[in-house]
Amino acid sequence: MEITVRRARVEDKARVLQVEATATPNLRYLSVMFEHWVHDQVGELSVAELDGILVGVAKFTILPDGSAWLEALRVSTEAQGKGVGKRFYQRFFELARERQVSTMRMYTGIRNVASKGLAERFGFHLAATYHGSGCSVELEPSKQAIDGFRVIDPAKAQALLLPLGEQWDGFMVMNRTFYAVTPELCAAWAKAGQVYHDAESNSLLVLGARFQADQALHIACMSGDLKKCLTFAEQKARESVVPKLTCLFSPTATAISQALLQYGFQPDPSDYIVMEAVI
Ligand SMILES: CC(C)(COP(=O)(O)OP(=O)(O)OC[C@H]1O[C@@H](n2cnc3c(N)ncnc32)[C@H](O)[C@@H]1OP(=O)(O)O)[C@@H](O)C(=O)NCCC(=O)NCCS
Repeated sequence: MEITVRRARVEDKARVLQVEATATPNLRYLSVMFEHWVHDQVGELSVAELDGILVGVAKFTILPDGSAWLEALRVSTEAQGKGVGKRFYQRFFELARERQVSTMRMYTGIRNVASKGLAERFGFHLAATYHGSGCSVELEPSKQAIDGFRVIDPAKAQALLLPLGEQWDGFMVMNRTFYAVTPELCAAWAKAGQVYHDAESNSLLVLGARFQADQALHIACMSGDLKKCLTFAEQKARESVVPKLTCLFSPTATAISQALLQYGFQPDPSDYIVMEAVI
């Protein structure tokens, strides 16, 4: 059996979608992301072939702080357990060396022992565990409009967000991408218009989407008057006709957990883990 890994090509799309459909039938975003990712020259969308047949896909992404985010790793069910996942990890390390990346991270569900074990085999360790929750958005306005939140600039975002890093256990999450809380991240989110501040209640909210912004908006961080933050988040989702809000947060952040429950968010069935390797 010969396993080769190479950069994905535009014509691989149909087969990549087949692979995703068998590997993660309930978690599909390559149909939307393929076109975007296949042209990423900073990172790489990679595919694996087993004896010439495309059986796997994975994405190496460079985040704003220069770390690598390993995502969308999928091996078609019939090809699992034959070394394809390990070959992808070797590629991740090659890419990290080429791009002088010193930290790599990935997330998986806490029950995904194969994914965790594979990462551990390559020296990754558990960096943090997160609860997740989500809430459907009523498209008809039911609450009074909130008017105080304003987008803030990168310097103010850094000043207000960085001190919250510890409460969020070092990461803030959008689209299940775990971003280490760094000055570069705060600046990038502020530039994207995703950091909101309400001066009256001194509340802060990071709200947005890394991709698939029509499907869900993600609360990456909130502090201050949490009910006000959530009401504003729901209002923004309604304005953009987005049907869902999500939030991932540290299990130690009990005030966040309570506020989400009181607002009507439903806890996800199981937790998420983020794994990290420092090269
Ligand atoms: C996770 C996945 C990518 C692994 O790919 P794969 O090609 O089957 O993996 P490989 O055959 O290269 O490597 C298997 C390695 O995973 C680890 N592993 C597998 N099952 C394991 C288990 N039950 N417990 C601990 N480690 C396990 C081991 O390190 C194993 O290597 P070893 O047998 O030499 O020790 C694949 O199963 C898959 O696509 N799953 C569905 C999608 C998914 O979960 N993606 C990951 C994150 S969302």
